[in-house]
Amino acid sequence: MDVGKKLTLFHNQKKSFLQKNNMQKIGYYRKSGELFLQNLSLKKLVDHYGTPTFVYDSNLIKNSFYMLKKIMDPLNGKIHFAVKSNDNLGVIKYINSLGAGADVVSIGELKRCLKVSVKPKDIIFSGVGKQKDEIEFAINKNIKQLNAESIEELKDIIEISKNIKKTVNVALRVNLDINAKTHKKISTGDENSKFGIIYNDIVNAYKLINEASFIKPYGLAIHVGSQLFDYDVFFQTFSKIKNLALELRNLGYEVNHLDLGGGFGVDYTMKNLLNYKSLSKALNEVFKNKEFQLSVEPGRSLIAESGILLTKVIRTKSTNYKNFLIVDAAMNNLIRPTLYNATHSIQPLKIKSDRSSKKYDVVGPICETGDFLGIDFNLQETKKNEVLAIMTCGAYGSVMRSNYNSRPSAAEVFIFNNKEILLRKRENIDELLNLDIIPNF
Ligand SMILES: Cc1ncc(COP(=O)(O)O)c(C=O)c1O
Repeated sequence: MDVGKKLTLFHNQKKSFLQKNNMQKIGYYRKSGELFLQNLSLKKLVDHYGTPTFVYDSNLIKNSFYMLKKIMDPLNGKIHFAVKSNDNLGVIKYINSLGAGADVVSIGELKRCLKVSVKPKDIIFSGVGKQKDEIEFAINKNIKQLNAESIEELKDIIEISKNIKKTVNVALRVNLDINAKTHKKISTGDENSKFGIIYNDIVNAYKLINEASFIKPYGLAIHVGSQLFDYDVFFQTFSKIKNLALELRNLGYEVNHLDLGGGFGVDYTMKNLLNYKSLSKALNEVFKNKEFQLSVEPGRSLIAESGILLTKVIRTKSTNYKNFLIVDAAMNNLIRPTLYNATHSIQPLKIKSDRSSKKYDVVGPICETGDFLGIDFNLQETKKNEVLAIMTCGAYGSVMRSNYNSRPSAAEVFIFNNKEILLRKRENIDELLNLDIIPNF
């Protein structure tokens, strides 16, 4: 299917979901071949903000949030946005305004949330290596829940809470040796990974919590990986954590909350719409009796689809084997293709019907063979200075940026109520240089 048709199909599917739910038109669509979002021509955004620029659609975020909320509400489940997937202050603020709490993995992410007035009682702090200052700060802010990832970390939390004489809710992140059937680098649920407390240590850990004077036992947490689609993985994860919680209750321990993590999968090829069917089925089967207060920590599924990266072709280059489009975005802006071999759909900003199709490698200017955004892509013949849209970049896109090759980060623009809002200025090179201190040799 050619790219234009695919995008129209994508848009039409979106439209029908929204029409059913009586919401306004959402998603990326085309008018006279040109890419639009809400009422705005993306060409105008390029003219105004330049490239590379990330663009996010507020309506797509709202749509994915409400789809999940519809599943979680009947189960009394709360949604906490995993800030690691996109830590832009405007994005956090918007998702919080929809009714989501936050899941953070560092003091930096926690401070981001507080800066945009996410309430501490809506914040979960996960992460395998929380340092003393981070734990102390989180306890002092009275956040909802600290997830302890090892007996050693639990002991540190106990000591810190005792020293500052402040009570904190602690959940144990467990590792129940689950194969998440996902990419190795985003798999976190098996016993070879650094995450969570293994089954044999859980009772001991719960005992420590119970004996500590400033720790309130909150429950259990689990997160087995990202890009999960498989019903069996969800079912196994939820059943195992529930059974463990019931075992602990039988031993007389208080286990009221189950934090089920995130990881709900997104289709980067844009062939299938985001859906939470297998998640919903497994949740309803395992938790139909509502014996626990549930929470989930999605990142990718809330924000990935909403974002695109606009990038301009610096020049074209052909060899005996390849046609390259050398673009002004690179692995420092979007590292997913390099790091995970991820494939993002790539679209021209304007479809020109008289152009034939050609196979391209879309690559950045960074001096690494691994610096690519797409390999062997069929695109319409594309010329210097024309713009491409790399789709589904809202999650683990800009947030994973670096300044490799002394390259500034991209701008980020949010589309809300048919208006554009600049969420992050493009860095400039002087700002980067100013961080270094020149020694007095
Ligand atoms: C503890 C925890 N919760 C939630 C998430 C969010 O995962 P995703 O963005 O796939 O929903 C992650 C990501 O790896 C995580 O480590």
